[in-house]
Amino acid sequence: MRKIHGIITFGAVSLALLAGSCTKSPQSPGYEYMPDMYRSVGYEAYQPNPNFADGTTAQPPVEGTMPYQSDRSRLLDFMPYPLPNTPEGYAAAAALKNPVPFSEEALKEGEALFQTFCSHCHGTKGLGDGVVGTKNPALIPPAYNSPQLKDLPEGQIFHSITYGKGMMGAHRYQLTKTQRWKLVHYVQSLQKQPAQ
Ligand code: HEC
Repeated sequence: MRKIHGIITFGAVSLALLAGSCTKSPQSPGYEYMPDMYRSVGYEAYQPNPNFADGTTAQPPVEGTMPYQSDRSRLLDFMPYPLPNTPEGYAAAAALKNPVPFSEEALKEGEALFQTFCSHCHGTKGLGDGVVGTKNPALIPPAYNSPQLKDLPEGQIFHSITYGKGMMGAHRYQLTKTQRWKLVHYVQSLQKQPAQ
């Protein structure tokens, strides 16, 4: 009995192997059992994709997703800014405190950023005498040390840099939160200048 079983098993395995290798092309790996398991449908990132409602392969991350950041000192840059771009958000910003401690280094960095991103409108000392205003008077900002702006709270300075104000555009895409708070230190130093 055992012998017969052995022969049958051997025969079945041989047949299966034979059937598996019996294909036309010598390059072919033979018949595949459940080919979907070997050959999953691969989509390129920008290829149309019928599996998603919007028909694209590259899906945005789930709302509220934050990139992983192992460097704790950069956490500030990745936390969402909670206040909305509304009059209520602006009013609430008055209570915010600068999370970047004041230092000569922070001030220097703020100054360098200011000369690059702001001085063409605000002037090198924030007196509202930038070159842009000579071309378009609508873009002349008040001086930081003017009665209008000299007491502007740090949180509102940050809020306005973030979302823009009036004719001034938003800077939240160009500058990280750390950079914006360093700019706040520098703007505050300009608010303290004696009025001309
Ligand atoms: C395109 C010109 C322009 C640029 C660039 C610009 N500003 Fe302004 N900024 C203005 C104008 C105009 C106002 C006045 C807005 C108003 O009150 O309607 C203003 C207002 C402000 C205020 C007062 C906001 C408030 O809440 O009243 C601050 C602070 C300020 N800017 C900082 C900056 C800083 C810092 C930068 C650089 C990152 C910058 N601005 C870049 C034109 C500019």
